[in-house]
Amino acid sequence: MSGQDEGAAVGAGVAGPGPGSGTGPARPGPAGSDARPGSAEAVGAAGPGSGVGRVTIVGAGPGAADLLTFRAARAIAEADVVIWAASLVQAEVLQHAREGAEIMDSAAMSLEDVVAVYRRARDEGLRVARIHSGDPSLWGGTQEQVDRCAELGIEVEIVPGVSSFSAVAALAGRELTIPEVAQSVILTRLGGGKTPMPPGEEVREFARHGTTMAVFLSAARSGQLAGELLEGGYPTDTPVVVAYQVTWPEELLLRCTVGTLEETVKAHKLWKHTLFLVGPALGAAGTRSHLYHPGHFHGFRRADPSARRTLRASRG
Ligand SMILES: C[S@@+](CC[C@H](N)C(=O)[O-])C[C@H]1O[C@@H](n2cnc3c(N)ncnc32)[C@H](O)[C@@H]1O
Repeated sequence: MSGQDEGAAVGAGVAGPGPGSGTGPARPGPAGSDARPGSAEAVGAAGPGSGVGRVTIVGAGPGAADLLTFRAARAIAEADVVIWAASLVQAEVLQHAREGAEIMDSAAMSLEDVVAVYRRARDEGLRVARIHSGDPSLWGGTQEQVDRCAELGIEVEIVPGVSSFSAVAALAGRELTIPEVAQSVILTRLGGGKTPMPPGEEVREFARHGTTMAVFLSAARSGQLAGELLEGGYPTDTPVVVAYQVTWPEELLLRCTVGTLEETVKAHKLWKHTLFLVGPALGAAGTRSHLYHPGHFHGFRRADPSARRTLRASRG
């Protein structure tokens, strides 16, 4: 199965470029007659070279175009050049691009290629929307772009997006922090491969906390992942959610345990676009939060006196 090919075909009726199509003014027709907030129609996009050059790094969410924020859609609509990751974001996001915008697939581009576009944007006064999957603050190659923009002297802005770990939690119908079970979430990846982990950041080290962990970029080494989770001290029956391509048509959500993680991943031949949520919070019933207890007061709500006594007693 090639999630990349299937993903690029999504967005029925969108005639945008497929993966590897390179550059070209391939923006499909307008996004429909109804001008939605953030669409090119709504913002009245100006022509290329009409302003000061600017790069907007856009978090586009886990894939589905309807998880773009209004701000993200607006940045795409205002762009003269849209650089997108065709394998990671559905082609439908390009519906927000204006007629005639230059569309480039980042799969075929090195950082140097991208920087060359930013340099041109600075010199010609173009606006660039650089679309990333999920939230740009996580494994997006964002910082190196921000640094290059600073060197070039071109303005850069970051638009946050829905990270895949939030999308997986939503699909699983789970909160990742449960009172008295888990109050921290560790976002990490497995070490090894091309990216060494800084000392102390191995999964086995984080596992010692026993809290909720979201593990990115690690499906290809599921045996190592399960081994490190166990070594760190998660019991074998700790609940795990394995999620592949969430919000895409081929999305898959599997529930297993740390003990069955490896066989689950291998049985479904998952090696990329997969995220793991691990920890007791994924199986625990929610003990009620104090915030919404009638005995709890805050700036906007008075406490009910008898409920307050009950709450105090429960705290010991
Ligand atoms: C390069 S990282 C990008 C993370 C992204 N910035 C975010 O906030 O989600 C790619 C990894 O994110 C996770 N990921 C991204 N999109 C996903 C999706 N739709 N379903 C499952 N995992 C996803 C996978 O672990 C994948 O290996």
